[in-house]
Amino acid sequence: MSASCDTIGIGLAGFGTVGSGVWNMLARNGGLIADRARGALRFEIRRIVVRDPGKEREVTAPAELFTTDWQSVVEDPSVDVVVELIGGTDVAYELVAAALVAGKPVVTGNKALLAERGGDLFALSREHDTPIHFEAAVAGGIPIIKALQESLVGNRVSSITGIINGTSNYILMRMTEAELDYPAALKEAKELGYAEVDETLDVNGWDAAHKAILLGTIAHGFLIDPEEVYVRGIEYVRPLDIRFAKDLGYVVKLLCIVREHGDGSIEIRTQPSFIPKSHILASVNDVFNAVAVRGDAIGDALFYGRGAGQDPTSSSVVADLVEAGRLLRQGRGSGHRGFLPYRETGTLKPIDETETAYYVRFPVTDRPGVVADIASLLAEAGIGISGTHSPVDPDQPDAEFVDMVFLLHTCPFGTLKGALKKIEALDCVTERPVVFRIETL
Ligand code: HSE
Repeated sequence: MSASCDTIGIGLAGFGTVGSGVWNMLARNGGLIADRARGALRFEIRRIVVRDPGKEREVTAPAELFTTDWQSVVEDPSVDVVVELIGGTDVAYELVAAALVAGKPVVTGNKALLAERGGDLFALSREHDTPIHFEAAVAGGIPIIKALQESLVGNRVSSITGIINGTSNYILMRMTEAELDYPAALKEAKELGYAEVDETLDVNGWDAAHKAILLGTIAHGFLIDPEEVYVRGIEYVRPLDIRFAKDLGYVVKLLCIVREHGDGSIEIRTQPSFIPKSHILASVNDVFNAVAVRGDAIGDALFYGRGAGQDPTSSSVVADLVEAGRLLRQGRGSGHRGFLPYRETGTLKPIDETETAYYVRFPVTDRPGVVADIASLLAEAGIGISGTHSPVDPDQPDAEFVDMVFLLHTCPFGTLKGALKKIEALDCVTERPVVFRIETL
């Protein structure tokens, strides 16, 4: 450590919501943190990288700390730890890589960076024996990374089920409770400041998928290629399916599943799914997150809390700063992290081989025999039917076009896709069927 023994110097890249939250939290609780380390751990933000130093900000910091030059921060000998909060996968990559090469521990909340380019960065981390801490990258203030890396390190983790995008969770909740359609619920989420300025990754499932990739990598020890992960978002969820879910005793949640199978393969996917109303995850509302972990020793454990926002995310960044500071104090590099990929490769289960029960809605022409036609093609594929649902609209009891819902027994997704291809070709099926998995968890 180059700086004064008493104080860890921080180079903060990014002074938006989370960056200024870290500034505030260190100002508010820095003394408490030092007391908890028996006075041996103090932090000082010594450089702040921003795009526009002249911009008016709610949180003020001395003007001399600001710079637009991230390289100068990595090179500054008074900076011991680099905090990356600029987002994206380009400049953020350069910055994190340069910090690791310079032997400066990194704290980041950047799930896209680690999920997309973590392979290279973790290799640099190992090569330079310099840690990357990333508690803030998954589920905001919930300490799920440390829980998996440390508290549960003795467990074989058979499944992780998460609601880990607060924006989607809020939108789906409003579509359920207030019967809003997707654009209206998204508008509300944006007005409340929940959705990112560019909400794309929130609603197309990728923000959650990046987080699931990190959880899966920690739990199973190999790098997961994002291109092999099945990801669907909430943009196409229709109020009709939310209503039918309710009628049938389910709620729709954007779920991430990471599951180990008996053959050692790992199933990993993110998609809007039906879960029983009575399941504990069904009551995770608003922008809250929850991660359910099943381990062979611990059994079921549930982590619940705020998955986004200034203070919760700063809480995780500051926790990582303290860990980075402790390791620096001890003169150690990466130390034991319970993670750092420990397997060269693993096998992901192809999505067509993954099995659940399903809800399938068929928009059809209401003619005699339509149910029998669909049912016989499902039977031909060996898919059992556990129920049907087709409420008659009292305003149009003789409507020509209706929605027929089939609830299907568990079968491989590929089998279902094959059957649906044939069913779609029936002349009575007017639009593509809508499919949701039913997760029994
Ligand atoms: N925008 C994310 C969410 C938080 O809505 O949960 C940051 O990943």
